[in-house]
Amino acid sequence: MPKISVIGAGNVGASAALYAAEKQLGDVTLIDIVEGVAKGKGLDLLQAGPVQKYDTFIEGSGDIRDVKGSDLIIVTAGLPRKPGMSRLDLLKANADIIKGVAEAIRDNAKNAFVIMVTNPLDVMTYLMYRVTGFPRERVMGMAGVLDSARFRAFLAMEAGVSVEDIQAMVLGGHGDTMVPLLSCATVSGIPITEFVKKERLAEIVQRTRDGGAEIVKLLQTGSAFYAPASSAVLMAESILRDRKRVVPCAAHLKGEYGFKDIYLGVPCVLGAKGVEKIVDVPLSAEEKAALANSAEEVRKGIADLALEPVAR
Ligand code: NAI
Ligand code: 2OP
Repeated sequence: MPKISVIGAGNVGASAALYAAEKQLGDVTLIDIVEGVAKGKGLDLLQAGPVQKYDTFIEGSGDIRDVKGSDLIIVTAGLPRKPGMSRLDLLKANADIIKGVAEAIRDNAKNAFVIMVTNPLDVMTYLMYRVTGFPRERVMGMAGVLDSARFRAFLAMEAGVSVEDIQAMVLGGHGDTMVPLLSCATVSGIPITEFVKKERLAEIVQRTRDGGAEIVKLLQTGSAFYAPASSAVLMAESILRDRKRVVPCAAHLKGEYGFKDIYLGVPCVLGAKGVEKIVDVPLSAEEKAALANSAEEVRKGIADLALEPVAR
């Protein structure tokens, strides 16, 4: 069994541990700075095994060094967004947490794949990449799978068809400037415009962009976690089972889509080597401009990290 560590045993982390166990993806170590929370949820999840029919071993820990020997690590440690708080407001608080977590991963799990979840997502993924020094194929961020899932769910409801038959992708940074691609949205390959009127499509695009905030407003305390956790586990499964899923991930760009040294949501092939390929999608002029605008927002966040420049 591969070893999966989930750092942060809060809402997203505990849900990710459950989904990973249910898929029998590997043994799970759930790590949190609040030891009792990690150990308690770990034990509770282990005890769900006989009922949910999984044999994976799950344990909790308060010691970050227990990432040792991990094959794959999902990082959810940090503070969630509160009502009225932008994702970028979280930057400084979460950067301190992620720096420490990244150092521990670098020192104890040097061969692991890392899937970042902590917000602001693209900036925290960049920070993880820089602090670990891992190759870009092994450090990626989860947001595009979630944003695309929201887009697909809204489109399916409007078109009155199964969510399974909706293909749609959201690129760019995980923020208000994300880029839902209408040009690629289809119902089993048939353009979405055959099913949904243009005016409604514009409203659905906006609802997708506001998807996280809509849930924050409803919950009042904290943010979404079921769909985010299942999205992170989809990425983990594609890597650990070499499934070669083609999904949008925050990936490090070295010229792809015209951007350099930045993490941004782009379609990737995820397999046993991690981000095995970044797929080029022909974009309309409007989509290109929207992606550039989104990249600019991420760049500002990266600049706020005030990291020493390095040649990589
Ligand atoms: P949560 O508050 O339920 O859990 C976070 C956990 O991290 C807490 O249990 C806390 O004790 C722990 N933690 C804090 N510092 C730590 C450290 N140094 N080491 C280990 N654990 C530490 O929050 P939730 O809802 O699970 O969200 C986690 C993060 O994921 C937030 O930053 C949130 O904004 C982000 N998020 C990102 C999404 C995306 O699409 N990328 C979607 C949903 C959430
Ligand atoms: C979301 O989109 C808060 O980023 C998180 O739900």
